[in-house]
Amino acid sequence: MDIVVKSEELNSLVERHKAKGDTVGFVPTMGALHAGHLSLVEKARERADIVVVSVFVNPTQFNNQDDLINYPVTIEQDIEMLQAAKCDILFNPTVMEVYPDEDKRVFDFGMLDKVMEGEFRPGHFNGVAQVVSRLFDLVKPDSAFFGEKDFQQLAIIKRMVKDLNYNVNIVPCPIVREADGLAMSSRNVRLSEEQRKESVLISETLFESKILMKTKNIKEVINFVVDKINSSSLLRVEYFNIVDGDTLQPIDDWRRSEYIVGCIAVFADKVRLIDNLIYKNFHDAC
Ligand code: PAJ
Repeated sequence: MDIVVKSEELNSLVERHKAKGDTVGFVPTMGALHAGHLSLVEKARERADIVVVSVFVNPTQFNNQDDLINYPVTIEQDIEMLQAAKCDILFNPTVMEVYPDEDKRVFDFGMLDKVMEGEFRPGHFNGVAQVVSRLFDLVKPDSAFFGEKDFQQLAIIKRMVKDLNYNVNIVPCPIVREADGLAMSSRNVRLSEEQRKESVLISETLFESKILMKTKNIKEVINFVVDKINSSSLLRVEYFNIVDGDTLQPIDDWRRSEYIVGCIAVFADKVRLIDNLIYKNFHDAC
């Protein structure tokens, strides 16, 4: 695996592969890698000739400085994991390398970033779009792999690719969970033992709510999820929305859409966890 810090070096490596006709699969990450990230690398290996992974903690997407400062950095371990996963190129740039000049671009995502993460983390998706577009310009991938764990992020990236006319195929990848159901996240290491045990309630409640959708309306399901998770003294729901999977706008009736997703953010003290569950997907019927 080549480990590259400079964009010129990345560029010449990628160009060399492209000249041979190789397709490039790209997995952007912020490091502190776990099996969720590796599932994206694996899918990229299946779909592309060479796999580029970036590890870059992007300062422009953190609306909370505490979160940025406390973001786990485990680069030695990340390198070992990526080597084992047969990644071809690791791009691990500095902030100056990605942002030689301040990125002042302001993106318009319509209603997509007015809800959920966009509402509670102002500026977050603008920062995500800035860094992903910079990385796309540097890596020039044919395809890029994103986890459904960050469901809204995926929708934003698809929109950005369309708006900026990138010729990149965006490949969604399913959520990878711990054995007890907790969605894998780099932030999970910040949970105390007690919080870690309690946080299983998030996925458990979401799974349970999928059974309830047969007999209860959307409002009742939302109340059930929020009340059950908030019944734990260690967890506090920030939002739980049941939305259309394409527009991300809340829906009030199960019959209103063929693609329905429940998205949740929960605080365990200062650690913020997100998860989601697909209630209905017309693709399943195809
Ligand atoms: P990060 O949180 O490191 O996640 C990198 C990629 O891994 C994202 O596409 C995310 O959805 C995916 N991922 C994380 N946990 C997952 C899980 N349990 N199952 C499946 N996929 C999972 O998301 C970011 O970084 C940043 O916003 C980034 C896109 C890199 C821009 O800075």
